[in-house]
Amino acid sequence: MGIFVSGNDRVFTLQTKDSTYQMKADTHDVLLHTYYGKRIDPEDLEELIFKADVGFSGNPPEANGDRTYSLDCLPQELPSSGVGDYRDDMLRLTHADGSTAADFRFQGWEISPLSRPVPGMPALYDTPEESGETLIITMREKVSGITVRLYYGVFEEENIITRSIQVENSGKTPVVLEKALSCSLDYLFGDYEMIHFSGRHAMERSLYRVPVGPACVSVGSIRGTSSHQQNPGVILCRPETTEDFGDCYGFCLVYSGNFQFSAQKDQRGQTRVQMGIHPDWFRFTLEPGEVFDTPQVILSYSPNGLTTLSQQYHDILREHMCRGVYKHAPRPVLINNWEATYFNFNREKILNIARQASQLGIEMLVLDDGWFGKRDDDNSGLGDWFVNEKKMGGTLKQLGEDLHAMGMKFGLWFEPEMISEDSDLYRAHPDWAIQIPGREPNRGRNQLVLDMSRKEIRDYLLERISDILGKAPIDYVKWDVNRSICDLYSHTLSPKQSGEIFHRHILGVYDLLERILERFPDLLLEGCSGGGGRFDAAMLYYSPQIWCSDNTDAINRLSIQYGTSFFYPISAMGAHISAVPNHQTGRSTSFKTRGNVALSGSFGYELDLNRVSDEEKEMVKEQIATFKHFYDLTHEGDYYRLTGMRDQEFVAWEFVAKDKSHAMLTMVKTDSQGNPLPVHLPVKGLDENRKYVCSYNGSIHSGRVWNQCGLTLPIVPTEYDSLVVEWSESDA
Ligand code: GLA
Repeated sequence: MGIFVSGNDRVFTLQTKDSTYQMKADTHDVLLHTYYGKRIDPEDLEELIFKADVGFSGNPPEANGDRTYSLDCLPQELPSSGVGDYRDDMLRLTHADGSTAADFRFQGWEISPLSRPVPGMPALYDTPEESGETLIITMREKVSGITVRLYYGVFEEENIITRSIQVENSGKTPVVLEKALSCSLDYLFGDYEMIHFSGRHAMERSLYRVPVGPACVSVGSIRGTSSHQQNPGVILCRPETTEDFGDCYGFCLVYSGNFQFSAQKDQRGQTRVQMGIHPDWFRFTLEPGEVFDTPQVILSYSPNGLTTLSQQYHDILREHMCRGVYKHAPRPVLINNWEATYFNFNREKILNIARQASQLGIEMLVLDDGWFGKRDDDNSGLGDWFVNEKKMGGTLKQLGEDLHAMGMKFGLWFEPEMISEDSDLYRAHPDWAIQIPGREPNRGRNQLVLDMSRKEIRDYLLERISDILGKAPIDYVKWDVNRSICDLYSHTLSPKQSGEIFHRHILGVYDLLERILERFPDLLLEGCSGGGGRFDAAMLYYSPQIWCSDNTDAINRLSIQYGTSFFYPISAMGAHISAVPNHQTGRSTSFKTRGNVALSGSFGYELDLNRVSDEEKEMVKEQIATFKHFYDLTHEGDYYRLTGMRDQEFVAWEFVAKDKSHAMLTMVKTDSQGNPLPVHLPVKGLDENRKYVCSYNGSIHSGRVWNQCGLTLPIVPTEYDSLVVEWSESDA
């Protein structure tokens, strides 16, 4: 049991294996936040809150002259808005009379023994082995009577607490939500830093670490997708926190649209942290009786540094977010024709790649962009989801059967959420695109975005995609989205609903994905958005793997996969071996190193096998065998970042089996210097009381020795050289 209620039903303590989260409804029914951190006993901690008469921090009427009681200073679970808390609010309303005050007070609570699915959106789900409990706290707005339900999910073993809210207009007049975040959390004491993962197309998720002070630090996206530029996974930690030491807190929003994370120290040294749907371009009207649900945010705390925090996210996302046949079943090793042919292919070229691939042990051919409509470049055809049989030299059914006859699975690229102006679909339904009448739209990759909030558009896409998947033996779909959204307008929503388009759009995307998976439950989906522009926890609900980046350069991939690993499981990262010089960077690395980097991901190839030497073809066979050999480690094991990305000449990662029977380490030399320093590889996570033999030098030591002493290489590898080392349990 992870939820304790005490103190006359007013103290709520959430307990996980290693963490405690507590709140308390005070004498004025304000829901105070008292504690989040290392696991302690569920005792009332209100005394931690220091009250003082603070100048210019006013007092609510019920304080009855007590100048030390101010909403502006109290740590709160659902901060009030417009009634004297001048820090960032969580829920901002405009009432029918134009006033904006919102003062939320505790009304009651209940506990559900199950996790709560968030309507219309992905959320952590229960399994037969483990279900999360949910604490539901009801808050009521003092005057309008608007009800807010705060949902706290607890997954004890995984050290996970979830938060989401539901706003119900239980008043008599319409109310406009101007801002509705998923969580707000006040840390009472201490200094913190924020770690965020920011970047750009083909260079996603570099790690940045900044102090949190009185100037608000914030990241977010208003692009309509979670974006390449920012990621909805952010960490708050102590300045001294490292991979292996110190307090850290993860905030992972289960949402693929606009989001915001912010952290700021208030005048009293308390830190307010918030996350949810980005308030910009958001305005949602609730008529009496209507409800609004926010996405779920997954919180996790580690007292032992960032590696443990990441492992907690990997475990929960693998087990309670990813679904379907491929949640645990081995994913096929694929070859994608994009970097091999781009749009310039025909049936023979594709079959030729497939024939060679099948001989080398590759298990699936993914036919990328260009097989449908009129689509020989990226200027036309999106929306016309009809097979171009002329270009394909026949039907997809024939192609799929030919592939299956070779023992290969068949995967296909789609970009359902988009429309080209040069398409039959656009000519028939120009109003299906998001654009403002009378205003020339901005194009991205020369394409427009379909208004996914409209059911008839989703129905069209469902019918088209189902027709193609139903007629050909297709095992996998790469689901792409290749531009950001602007020129916001919907032909079916009223002007007062214009602030609802972004959210309704992403709900529409989820609805379509869900309906496709209902029809084709065995399908493996790989999410994609120009590589990793929509790499978030919500997409993992539909696609257990996501194309990590359009950048396939092995050295750049180290930083991209490193940044991605802080929240997302290694199994979720699509990682391919491509040709050199690399198409994105012009850099050449060895076939071996490209393979060793792709090993830490969902592994595949993306090159023309006709241009690969015989020696490299032999290496393909070995690489696939290696990937399969280590599959249980990379896809189900515990992951350790042994180095950062800066200040050393190599990057190393390690995987340890859950049963600690073996481990694997990859190292890539990223830089070379004269008079080189030795490469000393730390080793972590082995069972201290078992013995392990190291594949590199045959040495046998106890886990205690390996964990303490690591491995020093007797040579210094040259730049871009790499290494894979295995530790296996030894009887010796
Ligand atoms: C995006 C994807 C690529 C490829 C192209 C096709 O950029 O990230 O992998 O599928 O689209 O147009």
